[in-house]
Amino acid sequence: MNEVYEKLQKCYADYEKKISFKPELALILGSGLGDFCDTMDVKETLDYREITGFPISTVVGHKGQFVFGYSGGVPIVAMQGRVHYYEGYSVQDAVLPTRLMKLMGAKTLFLTNAAGGINPAFKAGDFMLITDHISSFVPSPLIGANIEELGTRFPDMSEVYSRRLRGIIENAAAAEGVPLQRGVYVQTTGPNYETPAEIRMYGRLGADAVGMSTAIEAMAARHAGMEICGISCISNLAAGISANPLTHKEVQETADRVAPLFKKLVTRSITDIAGK
Ligand code: HPA
Repeated sequence: MNEVYEKLQKCYADYEKKISFKPELALILGSGLGDFCDTMDVKETLDYREITGFPISTVVGHKGQFVFGYSGGVPIVAMQGRVHYYEGYSVQDAVLPTRLMKLMGAKTLFLTNAAGGINPAFKAGDFMLITDHISSFVPSPLIGANIEELGTRFPDMSEVYSRRLRGIIENAAAAEGVPLQRGVYVQTTGPNYETPAEIRMYGRLGADAVGMSTAIEAMAARHAGMEICGISCISNLAAGISANPLTHKEVQETADRVAPLFKKLVTRSITDIAGK
């Protein structure tokens, strides 16, 4: 059997042994949404350390567990603490949790993140509906023997972020009175922030926001046939657009400040996606 799939199967066996909850939707929580689970009707949790071979997140402020329960009546699994490529894991390991949530039964993947704003119309604290992505120097998580059990060798990426789900989220945002920008997200490897020259380059290439996650998870999920949507919290203006040096503290503070609104938007979106 394919090595990556074998590892995934072992992780799934641990989930099956410990958890009975079957999620419909998978939610990956970015910076600032870490306490989203407080709004959920939590049924079960699974610490990443209880899963054999699971990559453990090292970022300060990230917990490491799957939280199973209901959000607005919808059975979901939330990833509290995501795995980043810059932590030193392979891209295949970085997307293992996404694939695992697909095996748990989730048909939809809802991605969230904190990102730097490149589009000059964006302000810190805005939310951006992700319409598409660019992956910059991050290897494809699909490199290596194809996992036939999950998807095809050469998967189509012409609509990674579902037009249908984007429509639902636009309507949810309007109904909740939450202003929503839209745009293209570029994933870099991190962990360093970008130079102003890189930000000018990404802007000219068509990116509206930049971050260190999301595109690889979306690629793995698309490969596995999930329907995907994503929202970025614009936590800062990207390098060179902002007059100040970038700090993780600023990113965290802005994300925390707008977290209540972000939670409202995500909760309503999930309910509307599930048609509850
Ligand atoms: N660049 C990259 N990643 C980020 C940023 C940024 O400006 N803000 C939050 N995550």
